Amino acid sequence: MADYDFDVIVIGSGPGGYVAAIRAAQLGLRTACVESRETLGGTCLNVGCIPSKAMLHASEYFDAAANGAMAKMGIKVTPELDLPTMHGQRLDAVKQLTGGIAFLFKKNKIEWLKGTGSFVDKNTVAVGDKSYTAKDIVIATGSSVTPLPGVTIDQKVVVDSTGALELAKVPAHLVVIGGGVIGLELGSVWRRLGAKVTCVEFLDQILPGFDGDVRKEANKIFKKQGIEFKLSTKVTGVIVKGDKATLTVEPAAGGSAETIEADAVLVSIGRRPNTDGLGLDKVGIAPNARGQIEIDHDFKTSVPNIWAIGDVVPGPMLAHKAEDEGIAVAENIAGQTGIVNHDVIPSVVYTWPEIAGVGLTEEAAKEKGEIKVGKFPMLANSRAKTNHEPDGFVKVIADAKSDRVLGVWVIASVAGTMIAQAAQAMEFGATSEDIAYTCHAHPTHSEAIKEAAMGVRGKPIHI
Ligand code: FAD
Ligand code: NAI
Repeated sequence: MADYDFDVIVIGSGPGGYVAAIRAAQLGLRTACVESRETLGGTCLNVGCIPSKAMLHASEYFDAAANGAMAKMGIKVTPELDLPTMHGQRLDAVKQLTGGIAFLFKKNKIEWLKGTGSFVDKNTVAVGDKSYTAKDIVIATGSSVTPLPGVTIDQKVVVDSTGALELAKVPAHLVVIGGGVIGLELGSVWRRLGAKVTCVEFLDQILPGFDGDVRKEANKIFKKQGIEFKLSTKVTGVIVKGDKATLTVEPAAGGSAETIEADAVLVSIGRRPNTDGLGLDKVGIAPNARGQIEIDHDFKTSVPNIWAIGDVVPGPMLAHKAEDEGIAVAENIAGQTGIVNHDVIPSVVYTWPEIAGVGLTEEAAKEKGEIKVGKFPMLANSRAKTNHEPDGFVKVIADAKSDRVLGVWVIASVAGTMIAQAAQAMEFGATSEDIAYTCHAHPTHSEAIKEAAMGVRGKPIHI
């Protein structure tokens, strides 16, 4: 048997890669992880999930003080924005969490190979001027922002999500290109801090992939909060002069163009897999038409000892999906049976209120067969009402014959927390009756899930 430097080399230390490395080390494999950033944790910890949530959390407090929500509860304050401190607490969160991964690497004796990794052959990865061999190699290189042809991201006036996290002042007018998750989360941050926000979306609705009712309701809520939407509209050009931008937009279906003046432009039209410079040609792996690395059920590529997980493979680009794949791939490499149920991956937009879903949309479920739907408004949930959080609803979709839950969709202040119980119920193959007859603590937002489930087969109590 060949003598390798490591049992496993993981390329990339995002939620997919670092979790795979830790699990592999826990299972007794000699593990290394290649990462080119200064800190571990990938997109998620450095410039994604964590810093965006730090800004969302802080700006939510500012907004509650500024928009009268706190005054309504008898707390009168006039907030003053200290943006450097807000950015400081974002950077602190990132530092602590990325440092935490470095600590876990040390604890688990994982070697961090600092630099950019590329394949030399199927068992060898070059990092800088050194090469390392391993029996198994995991590609977890993640994704980067999709560029908009003809639009140059300068990270000053025209920014991607990384630049939008770091703006040094609140832009008077921020134009967001793309009404997806990033556009709505980061658009919300700057709207709350005082920017006028216009969102230009190519499709006729925001949030592609979400349930139709949810997309419509979310649009209404964000409009009410002051975000202006230009749906079915495409950006054909952005010209920057000094610290201002002029966007040219026209109807997606064609028609007359108009211009929009902006102080900042956020390009958030999706992300694409990172495979450039990885030397995939050296091992005979060809990315598919969408640039993703195809894998089988076990996360194996077309080369038996090379595996791939996370944003670089097909499926939703979500940190928790990458993490679960990281655990499963390490277990498979160690000869165990690592499985991820891709039918039950929750998705959360961390706006106010939060928007969450798991399983099938109503539209997709209808295509598969007969369904029953139960819906319950947050307005009728005692806790949401008491907390002055009337917006949103819960929708439970179940198979008409078996009553098995096929999908759950939530718009509520704590939808991201609520969706976990729906995911667990679906993972256990629950019926809507199972949820309806589970005792839920009162008064909690989660009672709305129980009531929506009651609505599938009969009537909820409180409406
Ligand atoms: P990544 O996290 O992208 O990590 C890949 C790592 O590999 C990077 O650090 C990169 O430097 C490194 N790398 C790439 N190529 C090489 C190479 N050749 N050699 C060495 N190193 C290399 N998801 C959620 O679930 N919840 C959220 O709230 C959320 N918020 C987000 C907010 C923003 C602004 C963004 C941009 C994304 C957000 N995401 C969120 C998505 C989430 O960040 C990704 O799904 C997740 O990071 C994917 O993990 P990964 O391990 O596949 O790749
Ligand atoms: P996205 O795919 O969510 O949304 C992109 C939007 O841009 C779509 O609505 C699309 O129709 C629109 N679009 C595409 N081209 C356009 C054009 N030329 N003009 C106008 N609109 C156009 O992508 P986004 O928001 O960039 O996020 C990337 C990924 O990051 C997502 O897949 C998401 O899963 C992940 N992410 C997850 C978060 C979370 O879980 N809370 C937070 C942020 C990102």
